[in-house]
Parts: sequence; C-alpha cells; structure tokens
Amino acid sequence: MNETILNSLSNIHSDVLNGTYYNNRDFARKILNYPAMMVPSVQESIIKTLINDMPEGVSMIDPFMGASNALTTGMRYGASVFGQDINPLSVLISQVKTSVYEYSLKNSFLELKGRINRSRSSKIDVSFKNIDKWFKKEVQVQLSQIRRAILREENLKFRKFFWVALAEAIRLNSNDRTSTFKMHIRTQEEIQKRKLNPIESFFKICERSVEDILNVRQELENKDLVINNSYKHTASVKWGDSKKSINSDDQFRLLITSPPYGDNQTTVTYGQFSYLPLQWIPIKEISDEISIDYLSVIQQIDTQSLGGNLPKDFKKIEEKMFNKSNSLKRFFDGFSIDERKKAKKVISFINDLDITLDNILPKMGENSYQAWTIGNRNVNNKVVQNDKILIELLESKGIDLFIDLERDILSKRMPGRNNFSNTMDKEKILIFKT
Ligand SMILES: C[S@@+](CC[C@H](N)C(=O)[O-])C[C@H]1O[C@@H](n2cnc3c(N)ncnc32)[C@H](O)[C@@H]1O
Repeated sequence: MNETILNSLSNIHSDVLNGTYYNNRDFARKILNYPAMMVPSVQESIIKTLINDMPEGVSMIDPFMGASNALTTGMRYGASVFGQDINPLSVLISQVKTSVYEYSLKNSFLELKGRINRSRSSKIDVSFKNIDKWFKKEVQVQLSQIRRAILREENLKFRKFFWVALAEAIRLNSNDRTSTFKMHIRTQEEIQKRKLNPIESFFKICERSVEDILNVRQELENKDLVINNSYKHTASVKWGDSKKSINSDDQFRLLITSPPYGDNQTTVTYGQFSYLPLQWIPIKEISDEISIDYLSVIQQIDTQSLGGNLPKDFKKIEEKMFNKSNSLKRFFDGFSIDERKKAKKVISFINDLDITLDNILPKMGENSYQAWTIGNRNVNNKVVQNDKILIELLESKGIDLFIDLERDILSKRMPGRNNFSNTMDKEKILIFKT
C-alpha cells in the first residue's frame, strides 16, 4: 500500500501543487484575506491521496490552522477536523469557515443591512491608543454603526460571520497600508485623498461571502456530509498555543499544516495584521478560552508566537538543538560573532518548533501521516534550511521522511518581496509516516 500512496503522491501534477488554476473564492477562502494562506488545491491533492484508504470521519489536525484552509479541505473529504492557533482572529475566521451555515443567513444579512441603513447616530463605540491615527473620524462612525447593528443580531454563529466581514472591511478602510502585514501608516496626503465608505465596503464583502459560505454548505450537502444543519463529523477549532499544549484529547491519523517559517517579527506579522480588526470585535464573541492580553500592545500576539522570545538559558538550548540538527549548526557556524543575534532568533524559533513537535507527536495515532508545507528563508544572506531542519528534528524523534514534494510559490498570499526579502520562491511539502 505504501508503494501505491508513494506513486500517487509523486504523480501529483506540478500545476496542482503550484496552485496555478485554483479559484480563490473556493472554500470561502476570500472572506478574510489572512496572511500566508495555503492554496487549497495543494492540500486537497495530498489530503485526497492520503485519506483514500482511511475510513470516513478519520481525524485530522492542524496545530497552526491560520485561516483553516487545511481543515476545510479535510472536511470536504469527510475528515473529523481539529485545529488551533494562537491568534484570536484565526480562531474567529476558522469558527466561521468550519461551520455549516443555514440558508437563513441571507435574511439575517438583509435585516442587518436594514439596521445599518437606518442608523443615524454618530457615536463612536470603540476607543484605543492612537485610534485617530489609524481611522478617520467618519470611518470610526460608520464602523461603530456596523458594530452596533451586528451586536443586535441574536444568533452568535451569524454574528461571528458578520464579525469576519467587518474584520475585512476594517483592513480595507483603516489608514494602515494593505501592501504589508506589518502596521505601516499611509502618508497624510494619501489619507486625505482616500474616499472611504466602510458601510458600502462591508455590504460588498458580506454579499460575496454569504454566497461563498453557502456554496461550501452546498458542496458538503452534495457529499452527504451535512446532517441537521451541522457537519456530519466533528469540526472543532480552539484558541491555543501549540508550544504549550494541544488542546484536544483525540488521537489523529492525519496532520496537515503549514507552520510559520521563522519568528513573526522577521517573517509574517500575523499579530500586527490582526491588531486593528481585533480592536472592534468583543473578545467574548470569539472565545472565553483566550488567555493572552492581545490588545495590550501591537506586538503582543507576535511575541507570544513561535520564536517570539529568546530563551534565558540560551547556551543549553543551543547545544540541545545542535545535537538534533546538523543543518542548524552549520547555519549558525556561518555567522561571525557580531552577527549572531539574528542567528539566535532562528535557533529560538526552531527550539519552539521542536517543543511543539513534542506536544504533537503523542497525539498522532498508529499509521498516521503528517504533511508539513514549509519554505526556507534567508537571514543575513544565509539560508535557513527549514525543510532539512524539520526532517532532522523529526528523525531525532524516530520519525522518517516518507516523501518530499516541491512547489513554486505562485499564489500564496505572502508579503511583498521588499517587506519580506527573505522569502524563497519554492517551498517543500514534507510527508512523514508513523
Ligand atoms: C502559515 S500560517 C497557517 C496557514 C494555514 N495552514 C492556512 O492554510 O490558512 C501559520 C499560523 O501559525 C500560527 N502560530 C504561530 N505560533 C503559534 C503557536 N505558538 N501556537 C499556535 N499557532 C501559532 C500563526 O498565528 C499563523 O496563523
């Protein structure tokens, strides 16, 4: 059987792996433009192959679920899915995308629209440090009108959907540039010139997203995967720091994930991307399990994420990690003493990834597969070979590589090259078997 799976995996066409012809509205992927989202066709081809011989309802995990594109793809093939992420915005979008929405969402949207159109109050309901820097006054007024109208929707599942649409409207109507994931203010001239209408933009996003999310439902229904307005199997998403624990008691047969490629500050600042939208969405609407004060400072989520903090006993960590990964040692040795601060951040990130692996592996059942999509990066013109390092870390825990596939990064939502000059144009999909 191994041979058949190996053959099928190695025969996946490069167009599929590269996501050349994928539809970006598929899987409701467009309802929020979360950073570094996976391209569904890539994971779809792998999930489809691996799941083929597994029973329906087989359990799948993504410990870095992001916008839950892996999870929603797994659902399309009848998997029970579990995901977690440290970013509350990822949790919200994932709650929405892994839910089966009733067709009455359309009516709810019409009612919400009516409430917003009737709103005359210019009261601003949210306040935080520098709000006037990030939002024009008239934008604050309109966002508050939308926010109040959402809070008057009775159904929490529907409210969550509208919060996600609001998050996207905030992204497009703040004074933050949309070309980078880091918070970066537009010039005063640009800010003055821009004609913004957040309500109109919110309506447009909602119209498109209602259609997309109901298409997902239709697709699951066509596959007999919907019973009583719910997904037939389990779909559970949680807030959680995977470095601390995996918050599920289940055993999994499949892991499909794409971890960060380095600490958020120097790769993709998921936290900064989420900071402004999260100011407008009440925390209790997302989850009461969130235990970080993510609104305290802009950097909070990013510093709590993998590699966000340098460990105190660095010497010990260094030794431990070099024992596990020769490629990491070679990378570090390439740095002069003066340059080593940056290299230390890489070691700290890899150490956090290693701790996370120790949390994940006991959750993987017998005959399970793990598919990790991971890319390398440059630090001071030296390549961090994340792919080789991950293989070595897993080898040190007795898990061997089954097959590796390579893809061109054509369509993944990465930061502009200038802002993330260390991005490579290829990444690997490493598949392990236990
Ligand atoms: C590349 S994204 C995942 C993309 C996702 N597979 C998709 O298709 O949308 C990486 C995710 O890892 C999350 N992350 C970083 N550190 C984490 C940690 N310690 N625990 C859980 N999630 C973490 C980030 O918030 C981010 O959402």
